[in-house]
Amino acid sequence: MKIWIGCDHAGYALKLEVLAMLLEQNYTVEDLGCDGSRADYPEIAAAVGKAVAANPEDKGILICGTGIGMSIAANKVRGVRAALCADHFSAKYTRLHNDANIICMGARTLGSGVALELVDLFLNTPFEGGRHEKRVAMIQDMENHF
Ligand code: RB5
Repeated sequence: MKIWIGCDHAGYALKLEVLAMLLEQNYTVEDLGCDGSRADYPEIAAAVGKAVAANPEDKGILICGTGIGMSIAANKVRGVRAALCADHFSAKYTRLHNDANIICMGARTLGSGVALELVDLFLNTPFEGGRHEKRVAMIQDMENHF
């Protein structure tokens, strides 16, 4: 599994902390920007979204001020299930039930201690499958119809 990560200017400092943790844990990570200068979050969300959609074993991490813009934009990419998470329960259950493939976080709404734990939980929780398979398939079906 490779981790694709991106942020806008508001998320840059938190991204550096997340990156440091992932590298320390020996994850393979690719940073798709930004470099700290002003950036438009839809552009970064599209880059990470396309990478994750093209590589189903991979996961993505997107950080902006609130995490909201990143999640709205990333979910426009077919195959992306991006979840905005601000609490441990959501980070765990969006993997168990939604098979989310991207976690979005707000650097202006979360402390970095919580954010790092959310990433850890997200990356280490498997999809539960079973009755949730059908619901995820329904979302995929929507992508083909609307
Ligand atoms: C940038 O100022 C801010 O709008 C962005 O980081 C994000 O919060 C958007 O949803």
